[in-house]
Amino acid sequence: MSDGSVDIRQEARQQAAALPLDQLNPAQPELFTSDTMWAQFERLRRESPVHYTENSDYGPYWSVTRYNDIMAIDTNHQVFSSADGIVLQSLESKAESAGRPTRPSFIGMDPPKHDVQRKAVSPAVAPHNLAQMAPVIRERAGKILDDLPIGETFDWVDLVSKELTAMTLATLFDFPFERRRDLTYWSDMMTNPPGHGVCDSWEQKREVLGQCFEAFDDMWTARKDAVEPQFDMISMLAHNPATRDMDAHEYHGNVTLLIIGGNDTTRNTISGSIYALNQNPAQYRKLRENPSLIPSMVSETIRWQTPLAHMARTATQDYEIGGKTIKKGDRVAMWYVSGNRDDEVIANPDSYIIDRERPRQHLSFGFGVHRCVGNRLAELQLQIIWEEILARFPTIEVVGEPQRTHSVFVKGYETLPVIIPTRN
Ligand code: HEM
Repeated sequence: MSDGSVDIRQEARQQAAALPLDQLNPAQPELFTSDTMWAQFERLRRESPVHYTENSDYGPYWSVTRYNDIMAIDTNHQVFSSADGIVLQSLESKAESAGRPTRPSFIGMDPPKHDVQRKAVSPAVAPHNLAQMAPVIRERAGKILDDLPIGETFDWVDLVSKELTAMTLATLFDFPFERRRDLTYWSDMMTNPPGHGVCDSWEQKREVLGQCFEAFDDMWTARKDAVEPQFDMISMLAHNPATRDMDAHEYHGNVTLLIIGGNDTTRNTISGSIYALNQNPAQYRKLRENPSLIPSMVSETIRWQTPLAHMARTATQDYEIGGKTIKKGDRVAMWYVSGNRDDEVIANPDSYIIDRERPRQHLSFGFGVHRCVGNRLAELQLQIIWEEILARFPTIEVVGEPQRTHSVFVKGYETLPVIIPTRN
């Protein structure tokens, strides 16, 4: 497949080069939908790696774009707090939520409260439990792939990426399996602003999220009253001394975190792997000839894709970095998507190389106390789906450009048209 978007990227590079430095502002969803944010990040890393943008649709914020600076901030939770939110929030969404109760979750907390809540759910994704989940994921992955049409164009995002991640998440929650795509719908409703994806308006978003929380409230009550606590995430929250007395807002916050955390990220990596291998046919060939490269291909895809483009923090005190002073109270975006392309740390970062020397050296799962709790589960799902794909299909061909997610946070795909010409 040829890359028809080269011209757009060239133009974006020229535009980014022509902008006065203080006008650089990567927090524009349109740059992500058109995949043209790279030019701004390249310039920022080179000319202003710790950069202040005064005016944006997300208010004033700092961009941190180099690998080592991101690491320094992510591992310093004393100075860079998560308590005021971990994503850049648009001014429109801030106005919409003003006066409404917040829904705190442990990703938006600092230690020590963060640590005890995180510990309550992490056993669900610990190695022992993953080993038990692996055969279940494999069986489902096989079934999804066996049901795919051959020789016909279909949307990989819908039929495979969403389906596998919804199944896994339903298992983690012990959520009714036949209603698993509700989890996908709710996740999409949570992450999309009105006018994008499944979300038409703020009213609709509020209504649908109300339905989601109602379903999870019923699960909470049933699990809390169970004499024998089960090994799913909701039971764990309902029985752990650190979380069992949470109020409804906090419970809903944690449900939101787990639904989004377990859904979009892995889904977009699955789609990203198909897209990246099609853009790099020599790498796809290498993988087919040597399936033992699957684990490093998975890590390389997670770096290359960077499913969450940034995480944000708030400075609790003045802090010097990269020759600039971030002031107490300032918002800071750690752009993982840029740090993962920093050639001072990663060789040939723009190239997709499935047998890199250190494939797990990337920022996509974050670092420090909030490092992704589900990272091994995500890798496991990717590993299994690719083992099952290679066992079935000689190739999966991308036959059109993907439609990308309208977001400066979730970096992913709404659709990805593919054809599977034949089975093995
Ligand atoms: C946290 C990325 C899959 C659950 C995070 C963070 C990132 C991330 C960047 C924040 C790290 C930081 O602030 O330093 C990803 C990526 C994934 C993925 C790229 C897939 C490729 C999953 C899955 C789950 C999950 C499958 C489901 C269990 C969470 C949770 C947190 C988190 C609960 C909050 C951890 C905390 O605050 O202590 N993830 N994630 N993630 N992720 Fe993931």
